[in-house]
Parts: sequence; C-alpha cells; structure tokens
Amino acid sequence: MDFATLMKTRWSCRGYRPDEVPEEMLTRVLATAQRTGSWCNVQPWHVRLLRGEATRWLARELTAHVSSHPDAADQTPDLELPGTYAGVHLERRREAGYALYRSLGIERTDHAARAAAMLDNYSFFGAPVALIVTVERSQGAYAAADCGAFVANLMNAALDEGLGTIAQGALGVYAGKVRELLEIPEHEAVLCGVALGYPDEEHPSNGFRTERASLSDIVTEVRR
Ligand SMILES: Cc1cc2nc3c(=O)[nH]c(=O)nc-3n(C[C@H](O)[C@H](O)[C@H](O)COP(=O)(O)O)c2cc1C
Repeated sequence: MDFATLMKTRWSCRGYRPDEVPEEMLTRVLATAQRTGSWCNVQPWHVRLLRGEATRWLARELTAHVSSHPDAADQTPDLELPGTYAGVHLERRREAGYALYRSLGIERTDHAARAAAMLDNYSFFGAPVALIVTVERSQGAYAAADCGAFVANLMNAALDEGLGTIAQGALGVYAGKVRELLEIPEHEAVLCGVALGYPDEEHPSNGFRTERASLSDIVTEVRR
C-alpha cells in the first residue's frame, strides 16, 4: 500500500480474531518501527512483547485488577495523565467517544455499559499480541514524543501487513500494576500499550471511522 493510502484508510481496531500473528511478520513490523528517528538517536523506547498465552494471562490479571480498582484514586500512572480538554479539543474527544458508543449501541447515559467498553482495553480487545511500550523515566517529554513516533510507525507497519492495531493509553493509566506484573524496573515508565492482530471486521466496535479537522484549523502559516 502506498503511504498516503495507508494514512487515509488507517484506523484503530477494537475487535480482533483470535488467530496468532506469524513471528516473522511481527519481527518485520518491529524492525520497520525501529527505524524511527529520535532525539540524538537515543531510541528511548523499550517494548515488552506478549503473544498467545502470555497476552491472555496479562489480560486476565489486568481485567481483574481494574474491575476491582475502578476509581480515579486507584490509578497508578507513571506519566502525567492528560489534563483538562476544552473547546474544539473537548468536542473532538467527545465525538470520538460517541462514535464508538453509537457503533456499540450504547446510550450516552448508560455509564455501566460505557465502563464495560472501557474495560475491554485491559483484555486488549481480544488481540493475540500485546505490546507494552516504556520510556526511560528520566528523559522527559521529548523522549515520550520519540516513543509516540515509534508507536505510530509500528502501527502503520502492522497495517501495511494487513494487521489491525490500537494504541492504548489505558495501559499507562494503570502503569504501576503493569510494571508489577511484568517486573519492569522503576527507571522505565509505562507509556502505553498496543494491541495487535487480525481485525474482526464484523465486530461492532470496528463499524465506524473518525473524522479529522481541516488543515486550515491546524496550520497557521507565518509570513514576513
Ligand atoms: C497515544 C494514544 C493512546 C490511545 N489510547 C487509547 C485507549 O486507551 N483506548 C482506546 O480505545 N483508544 C485509544 N487510542 C485510540 C484513539 O482513540 C484513536 O486513535 C482516535 O480516536 C482516532 O481514531 P482512529 O485511530 O480510528 O483514526 C489511543 C490513541 C493514541 C494515539
């Protein structure tokens, strides 16, 4: 697929078939993502790769933990979580959520169903592969930005192989538990997860696509 077509058709997949992903395919995806540029070529990302039974084990542990610790006070992020959204950013955030709930047939006021949909993050939406992306804690915001570029490239490389993916900040929200389960040392901060596998095209959560603001909303040309 050419790159522009890939970007026009890319989407976040929230329902997967159980089929395992061939190891060579995963290696190609990771090797492509590894070409990501970073500040001074530091490559501050590190990936915990879980497949098959390991993914299912982590999914069971995290789902049990988050179900029994659902409150904001139970969250253990390593990195500062997003602050307040206002104006267009709040509107875009809401619209993305509503599009998902519409696709799942969930009423906006049905908080229990919304919480259940959120919980699906912790079973990686049924994906056979889970990647946990960490960043060196001491390296600050630019290293996190480098890791974001790595995650985007990884997801696009996977799409190019016919796979589905989704970045999961939800894993960063419970970073403390993720680090405990995977024995990740303190000097690494959990940035996010990535679920990866073959998309279940029929899954209701995959039945919508998001919009984007126009370029005039995001580009301001500076003239002198
Ligand atoms: C860093 C990052 C974290 C994300 N975390 C989550 C998440 O925890 N759960 C989720 O359902 N989607 C998550 N998403 C997916 C976004 O909601 C999605 O990219 C956005 O709504 C645009 O939709 P699209 O990717 O289908 O174009 C995340 C995306 C990014 C880039």
